[in-house]
Amino acid sequence: MTATNETRRKVFLGLLGGAAGLAFGGGAAARVAVDEASKVFRLDGGAATYAFGVNAGGQVQTLYWGAALAASDQLPAAVLTEGNSSNEMPVSVSPYEFAGFGGGLTTEPALKVRFPDGVRDLDLRYVGHQDKGDRLILQLKDVQRAVHVALTYAMDEATGILARSAVVENRTGSWIQVDQMAAACLNLPYSDDYQLSFLSGRWAGEFTLQTRAITPGAFVLESRKGVTSHQVNPWIAISRAATGEEAGPVWFGALGWSGNWRISVEMDAMGGVHASAGYNPFDFNYRLKHGESLASPVLHAGFSNEGFGGASRIFHRYQREKILPHAPAPRLRPVLYNSWEATFFDVTEAGQLALAEKAAGIGVERFVVDDGWFGARNSDKQGLGDWVVSRKKFPNGLGPLVKRVNELGMQFGLWVEPEMVNPDSDLYRAHPDWVINFPGRQRSQARNQLVLNLARKDVCEHLLKVLDGLVASHNIAYLKWDHNRAWSEPGWPEAAPDEQQRLYVVYVDKLYQLLAELRRRHPKLEIESCASGGGRVDLGIMRLTEQVWTSDNTDPYDRLVIQDGYSHAYAPAAMMAWVTDSPNFVNKRETSLEYRFLSAMQGGLGIGANLNHWKDEDFSKARRLIGEYKLIRATVQLGNLYRLVSPRNGSPRSATLSVSQDRKQAVLFAFLHSSMMRSAQQTIQLRGLDADTVYALRAIAGAAAPGTVARASGAYWMGHGLKVILEGDFQAAAFVLQAAAHT
Ligand code: DGJ
Repeated sequence: MTATNETRRKVFLGLLGGAAGLAFGGGAAARVAVDEASKVFRLDGGAATYAFGVNAGGQVQTLYWGAALAASDQLPAAVLTEGNSSNEMPVSVSPYEFAGFGGGLTTEPALKVRFPDGVRDLDLRYVGHQDKGDRLILQLKDVQRAVHVALTYAMDEATGILARSAVVENRTGSWIQVDQMAAACLNLPYSDDYQLSFLSGRWAGEFTLQTRAITPGAFVLESRKGVTSHQVNPWIAISRAATGEEAGPVWFGALGWSGNWRISVEMDAMGGVHASAGYNPFDFNYRLKHGESLASPVLHAGFSNEGFGGASRIFHRYQREKILPHAPAPRLRPVLYNSWEATFFDVTEAGQLALAEKAAGIGVERFVVDDGWFGARNSDKQGLGDWVVSRKKFPNGLGPLVKRVNELGMQFGLWVEPEMVNPDSDLYRAHPDWVINFPGRQRSQARNQLVLNLARKDVCEHLLKVLDGLVASHNIAYLKWDHNRAWSEPGWPEAAPDEQQRLYVVYVDKLYQLLAELRRRHPKLEIESCASGGGRVDLGIMRLTEQVWTSDNTDPYDRLVIQDGYSHAYAPAAMMAWVTDSPNFVNKRETSLEYRFLSAMQGGLGIGANLNHWKDEDFSKARRLIGEYKLIRATVQLGNLYRLVSPRNGSPRSATLSVSQDRKQAVLFAFLHSSMMRSAQQTIQLRGLDADTVYALRAIAGAAAPGTVARASGAYWMGHGLKVILEGDFQAAAFVLQAAAHT
């Protein structure tokens, strides 16, 4: 095992109490059954069953993945699928769990290696397995050479979500080069009407849900940007044509990796649908000396028969209970204030103090100074990398501001972008060799900055020292950790030429280690993952960051669409949303303060407006709504989310409902975006309530139609529904239903 991978395992062992991040910190593992005679392996958890088997030739094939089977059901042993002619060798139409490139494979391999003698044939066969209680480990080996692969399967008992990963180990006596490596291949039952859904976008337009039919051929989703990417997120869902929001099968998967990744969804010649997810083979290779190994990222995959809503609810639960820091009980997100949109780079002690006083007055719990507090950072052109408090802006350092913020009863938080440097900075002048670069070639800038090479030991040591010092010397409760550009010229000149393309893996491993070490040294510290908005949201970084910045687009209407897409894959428990100024800086749209609040109250609530421009009535409205938010935030962040009316595709309306785990509280947010054609008032049927409990209705904002009952059973609210009065464009209402009694 390489140092890098060894450390990655240790990081996860330390954080999660298991190997390779797959053993769960709390809660039971799924039921694992192994039939030694037929070599059928079966995992049952939640409402799902996953089964695979070893065929007569030793190849490992998926046998079943879908709705839970009866415990007594026997799955037939694996057999190779036959093609319909000599053109289709069985290897290319069989549902392999983890195929090597070799033996005639013409579909996507999970692993592709080359040997020093030029051989590039890898034929992996089963050699053994270990049932570790909380996970199953399957050992494969090439038919001839000592290339060993360990596949890990860890299924969560509560949700049936399966965490899969692989480790390849070289015991050949010489080097091998890994050219392509997936975490897993997922094979779906046969069907001719599959649809693929994924999340795509751009800066200020992340998480747009896309759906298209799966047809013959391959469809590739990927990041080549060095970071997770706004353009496509590493999450997919495969559904049947008739699947809807609350009914029908959905198979889904998300790759926990914050660097270059690729998910390939393909239909083979006989109609079989396969999805493989892992490191992006683009510009990648990873050479392993004898005795070294490489671990894949983890692919988290689940199944729900309850539509996209059911799929996201179990995935949210899984993230709360298995992924997020402090799982299975992630901490509630405090209400924060962030100064970015109020001041941009014009940060001063007096200005921040004035904002802090006002923020405390409306009930903010965490005050965050964004970009511009350090070095010569007066714009995005200089100072990045110089993490020294600007004495021009803070003559006495950050101390007086932090002290006052704490006196006001708020925690203090700070923005950093540790992985980057402006060429116009002291750090770059001292260490021009610290950036990712190809010697003698241009160093392309984006936002006037370059990417520090975290694969270098000295860079990581420097960053740890600086960040540790910063957090230790101030009472910093939270860091907003930003990453504002895609990579270019991805060279690592200090490494040997045939080792340089390890960069894509080593960089991300080191980033995770840096975050983990900082958290270890400062156990109370919380971190937000931000990359020009939602460019680094994935289950890899989310193990190490309590919250994520969803988008720089804080327009409350656009944000509803972005939040809708986000919620298909990721939990509201980690999703941050801010109330900012109107008109919005991104699209100049004007909206009421109430509309902005109700849009932002659906995750972790932040205020990002310039409070110096607020009137008395704005402060009192904000104070009231923040007070209301604190009464419902546990339900919104940790409850079950029902997307009742979608805002997608220009829908004039939308609505979401969050129901607490004990079903004693439910919170409804309803929006009218466009009153075009004055269509009927909306009556919204709720979901997820206890039919026999009486719930009392209370408006947080807006109103129900005249004559609406004040109390009724869950059955009534779900069947009859609630008629909401919304008139005019960009109007919003919110209600809380509180369990009052049993019917
Ligand atoms: C990009 C982030 O997404 C913004 O919220 C802000 O922190 C800026 N960077 C600061 O440069």
